[in-house]
Amino acid sequence: MKVNQAEFIISAVGPSQYPVDALPELALAGRSNVGKSSLINRMINRKNLARTSSKPGKTQQLNYYRINQDLYFVDLPGYGYAQVSKTEREKWGKFIEAYLRGREELKLVLQIIDLRHPPSKDDQAMYNWLKHNGVPVCIVSTKADKIPKSKWQKHAKIVRETLGADKNDPFILFSSELGLGKDELWSVIEQYIGY
Ligand code: GTP
Ligand code: MG
Repeated sequence: MKVNQAEFIISAVGPSQYPVDALPELALAGRSNVGKSSLINRMINRKNLARTSSKPGKTQQLNYYRINQDLYFVDLPGYGYAQVSKTEREKWGKFIEAYLRGREELKLVLQIIDLRHPPSKDDQAMYNWLKHNGVPVCIVSTKADKIPKSKWQKHAKIVRETLGADKNDPFILFSSELGLGKDELWSVIEQYIGY
């Protein structure tokens, strides 16, 4: 897909704020600070349209970005951020669950995992929950530039095995820094939105 236009639309705090134009949506799920917003920026060739931060827990709403008139990226709040209170976490958990389970426009979840480390308990729980609820998932293992290329395949295998990943789910090695995996991810996205 050629990105001609990318625009921030809204930080939605509830379903009444979701767009009503029925474009397909792709949601990004992952731990705080894993690189969700950076991945969006890389996919659309913009430095800082999706706000990134070295401070985890920055994204606290469903942030909608419209790409051309073709689709939305929905940047979800990161999970596993300890400094958010338990009540707050539960509230957000319910909100995100309702979105992931009930949003008809949602075509694919990009589950973002740090390639350097085995997936956490939170990552495993998220993946299992998505599979259990029949939500299509593409695993994207990012920050590949932070480890030597010779170790990529070994780490990719650990990520897949620790998640217990379904062989049919697409898996993409990614680096927002290098642009690695960008074209491959676009072609997966196009497939899922029927572009
Ligand atoms: P929250 O919104 O807090 O959940 O974080 P996020 O998942 O959106 O992470 P974000 O994109 O803000 O990135 C967090 C930090 O990781 C930033 O300092 C980024 O520059 C860095 N980062 C993200 N992706 C990559 C990558 O592929 N390579 C390298 N080297 N750094 C990355
Ligand atoms: Mg973010």
